[in-house]
Amino acid sequence: MQAEYRQRRQKLMETIRTGTAIFRSAPMAVMHGDVEYNFRQESDFFYLTGFNEPNAVAVIAPHHEEHQFVLFVQPKDPLMETWTGYRVGVDLAKAEYGADEVYPITELDEHLPQYLAGADRIYYRLGRDRTFNQTLLDHWQCLLAKVPKEGIGPIALEDPITVLHPQRLIKSESELALIRKAVEISIEAHHLAREMAQPGRYEYEIQAEMERLFRLRGGVGPAYPSIVASGFNACILHYTENTRQIQDQDLLLIDAACSYEYYNADITRTFPVQGRFTPEQQILYELVLTAQEAAIAQVQPGKPYNVFHDTAVKVLTQGLVDLGLLQGTVETLIEEEKYKPFYMHRTGHWLGLDVHDVGVYKQNKDTWQPFQPGQVVTVEPGLYIGLDIQLAEDQPEVPEKWRGIGIRIEDDVLVTADGHEVLTAAVPKSMAAITTP
Ligand code: GLY
Ligand code: MN
Ligand code: MN
Repeated sequence: MQAEYRQRRQKLMETIRTGTAIFRSAPMAVMHGDVEYNFRQESDFFYLTGFNEPNAVAVIAPHHEEHQFVLFVQPKDPLMETWTGYRVGVDLAKAEYGADEVYPITELDEHLPQYLAGADRIYYRLGRDRTFNQTLLDHWQCLLAKVPKEGIGPIALEDPITVLHPQRLIKSESELALIRKAVEISIEAHHLAREMAQPGRYEYEIQAEMERLFRLRGGVGPAYPSIVASGFNACILHYTENTRQIQDQDLLLIDAACSYEYYNADITRTFPVQGRFTPEQQILYELVLTAQEAAIAQVQPGKPYNVFHDTAVKVLTQGLVDLGLLQGTVETLIEEEKYKPFYMHRTGHWLGLDVHDVGVYKQNKDTWQPFQPGQVVTVEPGLYIGLDIQLAEDQPEVPEKWRGIGIRIEDDVLVTADGHEVLTAAVPKSMAAITTP
């Protein structure tokens, strides 16, 4: 894996050439009082270094004569390590993480300027830590003062997302292997959830067993707060309380998946807990499934990114018109966004180290990015008819029988050279697979 981190840095160096890029590790986050959350590394920092500690800074300086990759890390400290865990320390970081030079983080001010002085720009993302931002800006300001006379030095500060995120958007084989592993564990958990679901169970019982599996199979845990939403709870997009007792005839919407070595899956399934739909549930489920399959078919290399979303919106809106839930022409309803009370989110997002992964969706204001092999995208249309759904004034009242039904179906799709691969295809979603005859 070290070879791959080196390759990633190499590629970044080829892009920034005369600039210096600085990446900061994630901070420890406070849960309450003096108790902290489990550490989760900042994704850009991890992508380039594989180094999994807080209080660290990575410097990439391709133009520097001696050190192109420098780490500042927490020094070894036996007493602190007794409390908060093992630290790699300065000496081992050099050997194990391939840095040309490693300093204790306490010596940042002393050593950082030499890596900035010869650069013509600094790539750094202003972060939440204002003290660190200020430190960096102070160093930059000192160097700027010399630029007029000496003619060299960084004259611009640029957010590194412009150079790094296009790189992260295309997944390597080893990244795909980790996503596949996260997917594999998540699939097992969704199967288990199907077996467990029945009236009388609490939503949290299913959440607990799924998350148990995530960890039991070696994952970090849930990729995002698990949503186990029965009945009308499925109409709340980010329902995470998971406290309701499942009732007869409920649909159960489960949006839950595993994170494995920080790479994520993201899967939603909706099914009738007793294996039988009510007529309204079935009609809406079939409509969402049709929209999802039509959208997945649009995930092809070269196709503009927005086409799969537009396809889903078209199928759903046409379906709602056919059912009398919307009135008007499909074209106008879409143009005036009158379908939005039923379908208010987009149909997908990039997936990777972040669940809503980095990378632009548009090339410019008017042009969407075409899909490219190696990208992973979620495809997740839904319909949500909340108990209090409110449509535009010129639309009919939604009859009672449709209310309280929420459905989403979400798969993770890899763009391949000649089409796509649905990584999560093994989680059942066809009518035949989720109903009992
Ligand atoms: N589970 C978060 C999402 O689907 O985007
Ligand atoms: Mn999801
Ligand atoms: Mn998603």
